[in-house]
Amino acid sequence: MSVSARAAEAKASVEMVTSFFESMGDVASDPEALDFTFGNPHEMPLPGLTSAMSAQLEPRSVDWFAYKSSQRLAQEAVSAGLRAELGMDFEPDDIAMTQGAFGAISLALAMLADAGDEVVIPVPGWFCYPPMLHAANLAPVGAALDPVTFDLDIDAIAWAITPRTRLVIVNSPANPTGRVYPREAWDALAAVLEEASRTHGRRIWLVSDEPYRRIRFDGIDFASPAASYPWSVIVYSYGKVLLAPGQRLGYLALSPLLPSEERAELRSACMPVQLAIGWGFPNALMQYSAPALESVSIDIAELTRKRDRMHDALTRAGYALTRPEGTFYLWGRAPGGDGAAFCRELAAHGVYLMPGTMFDQPAHFRISLTATMEMIERALPTLVAAPEGS
Ligand SMILES: Cc1ncc(COP(=O)(O)O)c(C=O)c1O
Repeated sequence: MSVSARAAEAKASVEMVTSFFESMGDVASDPEALDFTFGNPHEMPLPGLTSAMSAQLEPRSVDWFAYKSSQRLAQEAVSAGLRAELGMDFEPDDIAMTQGAFGAISLALAMLADAGDEVVIPVPGWFCYPPMLHAANLAPVGAALDPVTFDLDIDAIAWAITPRTRLVIVNSPANPTGRVYPREAWDALAAVLEEASRTHGRRIWLVSDEPYRRIRFDGIDFASPAASYPWSVIVYSYGKVLLAPGQRLGYLALSPLLPSEERAELRSACMPVQLAIGWGFPNALMQYSAPALESVSIDIAELTRKRDRMHDALTRAGYALTRPEGTFYLWGRAPGGDGAAFCRELAAHGVYLMPGTMFDQPAHFRISLTATMEMIERALPTLVAAPEGS
């Protein structure tokens, strides 16, 4: 075998997703296909995104497109945004600009974990955690969410922790379930992590994956675990709120509650570690655009209408669905209990959903609400008829 063992493991753990992605190749080129699979845009990009980038395109100095590590203006805009949003004392030096949440997670793994360490991840959870962990020589350990409500199961996380655990990854608003977890859940988790760190004589770090933080419904509050547990890093992406995941802008933010010595150590590690993992900074243009992009967003009112239309019509038709509190995903149980068979059946009628097998939940499916309202209206007759046929 030519590829490394960790590359082979990464490949194997994401095989289901890559083959599904490849199978969607033809669908992308079919204008009639009703594609509710990946969280990709189905409308022209936001004008606010285009104008922010256009305003920075013309070089203003010879080094406009030189090598750029985290840019001060971007760090300042992010820390000011986080202060306003989370009410915590973030400073520009707590921010490392990255290529989306993917880049921020890679940075967190490189900065905090050693080969062979275990990392606790939620199940169901984002399908890229296991391959990213394998590629970093780390071992994913799943901790199940509550099987009905998909609430955080603190006992399951406590059970998953061993002396080799170095990191716990949490995700709120959560992909694929759309759940947003309250402050009390994070306080309970913080108590478990503090206790386990003490028991094993080794600090367990928390990675709070928050790329959907600004995509919430019905005015539900957001609480970051970084406010409950000082040894937290926040990872964020603008790819979701701008619905432009190809533009690769995000950041890692250190919790301002970190004890000052550790905060200083991590601050000074970010830049060299980002260099070491392959110049893991966003490109110059995206960093210059970051201050303007802080206030650009997809239309949350329209997204709420799409959620309500889809959720209410499917619930009336007999589906068991989680009503998302955030994200742009709808998560449900397949009529008949076989998510893959259900998705295949719908695909034969031109409606494409993501089977729950991608998230280790074979009875479920996920719908991306990044589709247009027009696509939703066209798909609903097929979706509404499906439970009757099962
Ligand atoms: C939970 C979660 N984390 C991280 C990411 C990565 O985001 P990005 O591609 O914008 O870096 C995604 C993207 O789907 C996600 O769903």
